[in-house]
Amino acid sequence: MKPVELKRDIYWVGAVDWNIRDFHGYSTEKGSSYNSYLIKDQKTVLFDTVKKGFFGDMMHRIYNLMDPKQIDYLVVNHVEMDHSGSLREAIELIQPEKIFCSPMALKAINAHFHPQGWPLQVVKTGDHLELGSRTVNFLETRMVHWPDSMFSYIPQEKLLISSDGFGLHWATSERFDDQVNQSELMRHAAKYYANILLLYSPLIQKLLAKVAELGLDIDMIAPDHGLIWRRNPATIIRAYDAWSQHKAASKVLVIYDTMWHSTEMMAKAIYDGALDQGVSVKLLNLACNDRSEVMTEVLDAKALVFGSPTLNNGMLPRMADLLHYLRGLKPAGKLCATFGSYGWSGEAPKMMAQILSEIKLELVAEPLRVNYVPDHEALAPCRELGQKIGQMVAALNLPPACDEVYCGD
Ligand code: FEO
Repeated sequence: MKPVELKRDIYWVGAVDWNIRDFHGYSTEKGSSYNSYLIKDQKTVLFDTVKKGFFGDMMHRIYNLMDPKQIDYLVVNHVEMDHSGSLREAIELIQPEKIFCSPMALKAINAHFHPQGWPLQVVKTGDHLELGSRTVNFLETRMVHWPDSMFSYIPQEKLLISSDGFGLHWATSERFDDQVNQSELMRHAAKYYANILLLYSPLIQKLLAKVAELGLDIDMIAPDHGLIWRRNPATIIRAYDAWSQHKAASKVLVIYDTMWHSTEMMAKAIYDGALDQGVSVKLLNLACNDRSEVMTEVLDAKALVFGSPTLNNGMLPRMADLLHYLRGLKPAGKLCATFGSYGWSGEAPKMMAQILSEIKLELVAEPLRVNYVPDHEALAPCRELGQKIGQMVAALNLPPACDEVYCGD
């Protein structure tokens, strides 16, 4: 297991997890990586460790460069266990002179590890660490992704080590953004943002403003997951700016589950109605689309239409799961409507609408219901609903939706 040099004497020494398929409900169908970085200078520093179980991978890479006991410092940019699961083992082996972390990370380290005698030193935004020919400037980045999160910026190298920020879950043998398919790269970055960071969008707006205010000159961003951005780091910064402002494309999603295909017939009629208005429309059956893939589509959609038949006086379980997930991630600025077929009670469309209104998404129509199996005539209100929503989206003159998620280009 070899290290990969990012810049002279700066190395990726992390681990690739080819097998992980679920990350707290996020479908990591192509695995992930836990990145850690080593800078060799007069003082040598290791940024973040890796998930428990991958300590050996990281150490094998470091042994290719040096005896790990010669590492002087550790920097804990993030305490979540995918980056600190090996922290105790790393400290016991390396015996670092100092371990740098944010004030909130100190609390989190104490609560996770209950350490005795660890040489922890708190650093705040504006503090820096001299390595010799390089400096590490620290920037607290609360809630990107936890309260403890922190970026490390090395001005002499124009390198930003960005913890969870600008990351993506994708196991690859390649380490740099310019070595992989660009569409797939941005799709994974969007999925990561939509499923992990979307609810922190207001804080990400503040963070981007802070980075601009500090005038950080960046030609490489090294996150703790996925690929290192070196081709043009402005691409992912611009995408984060667009996503955190909830910018949308000219795109409607019809998201549904169905029991005996009646709600599916309604979904298709809504789809037809919207499509006639010249907007992009996607039909997403929850039986075939994982919640985290749906959430990725939600990221840049302007309108969301949710359909479920009524089961046991409620919505189908997959729709309840999705709306619960959606509620937590706090999408904003969407136009919404609900629909569903029913037999006798028919509560589901109203219940879905209630949740959407609680999370402050704009409902543009009353919940639409059809009794049992709709014929062509009974589907007319569905086509009209699709037309109405399609017209509303078309009138906004949004950027066209393409196969990939809108990234602010
Ligand atoms: Fe990749 Fe918040 O941990």
